[in-house]
Amino acid sequence: MSNFPNTRLRRLRRSEALRALIRETKVEVGDLIYPLFVVEGNKMRQEISSMPGLYRLSTDLLPKEVEEIAKFGIPAIILFGIPQKKDEVASSAYHPRGVIQQAIRAIKKTTPDLLVITDVCLCEYTSHGHCGLVVDGYVDNDKTLELLAKTALSHAEAGADMVAPSDMMDGRVKAIRQALDENRFQSIPIMAYAAKYASAFYGPFREAAESAPQFGDRRSYQMDSPNWREALREVEQDIAEGADIVMVKPALPYLDVIRKVRDTYNHPLAAYSVSGEYAMVKAAAQQGWLDERGIVLEMLTAIKRAGADIIITYYAKEAARWL
Ligand code: PBG
Repeated sequence: MSNFPNTRLRRLRRSEALRALIRETKVEVGDLIYPLFVVEGNKMRQEISSMPGLYRLSTDLLPKEVEEIAKFGIPAIILFGIPQKKDEVASSAYHPRGVIQQAIRAIKKTTPDLLVITDVCLCEYTSHGHCGLVVDGYVDNDKTLELLAKTALSHAEAGADMVAPSDMMDGRVKAIRQALDENRFQSIPIMAYAAKYASAFYGPFREAAESAPQFGDRRSYQMDSPNWREALREVEQDIAEGADIVMVKPALPYLDVIRKVRDTYNHPLAAYSVSGEYAMVKAAAQQGWLDERGIVLEMLTAIKRAGADIIITYYAKEAARWL
C-alpha cells in the first residue's frame, strides 16, 4: 500500500551529504587484500597478457612493490608463487628456499607491518597442474593433506602472517591447523577458501600462475556452481576444522552465496574477486566501453553489501586511489 505523498523516498537523496548520511555500505581500503604473483629469478617484471596492469615479479623487485602497496594503505597481500621446477610431488611448494619462502622473507624485511598471507595449494608446483597428488589419474585427497600441511608450515616458518588453503581437499584445514599447532604456530590464523567453485572465471589466473591442469579439470574437488546449500556445508566443515576466516570465490557471480554464508555464520567472511572479474572490466575499460572507476567501486560495494568483510581484488591499488 502506498503512503505517497507522506512517504517520499527521494527526500533523502537530494544531496550528496544526505546520501552519505544514510549510506548503508562502505568500502574502505582497509577491507582489501592485493594478490601478488612471484617468480623465481632476478629482475623479472613480466606483464600478464590477460590481466593488463599486473605483473609477475621476481623476489628482488618485491621490496619496491610492497612499499608502494603499504603506502596505499592496503593492509594485506596474498602471495602466489611460480617455481622454476615442477614435479609430481610439488617439491618446490614446501622447499625452505622455495619462491614463496624467499618472497616472504624479502617482504617482511621491507614492510614488517604489511600482512603477508600465502595461498596454500599445489597446482602451481605440480607438473600435471592439479591441486593435489595424482594417483591413478585421480587427485588423492588424504595423501595430499600431508603435503599441504608441510607447505603451510614452511610458509609460517618463513614468516607468513596467515595461510590460505585453496586446494579444496577435505580435511585440509584440520591437517594444517594440527601441523601449525605442533610447531608452535598456534597463533597463525587460517583463511580457508571454503566455498571455492570450479569456475571459468579463473582462466587469466591460470595463465598468470602457469597452473592450468594438464589433463581433465578441477571438478572432482572444486564446487559445482549451481549449488549453494553445499557451500554452507563446506563452510561448516572448515569452521569445525579450525578456519578463522572463511571465503567465497569467485565473488561477483556468487553474491547470493556470500549472503547465505553471512546470514548463517559469524566468522569473518572474505570474498575473492577473481582474475576473470578483473579481466572483463579491464578489457572493456581499455576499449572505452565503460567507466572503470564507477564499475569497480560498484562491484566492490556489491560484494560488501552481500555480506563480505574482506575483499581480495586485483583492483586494490586503483581502488585505494579512488576511495
Ligand atoms: C590455486 C588458486 C586458483 C586461484 C586462486 N588460487 C586457481 C585455480 O583454482 O584454478 C584463482 C584466482 C583467480 O582466478 O584470480 N588453486
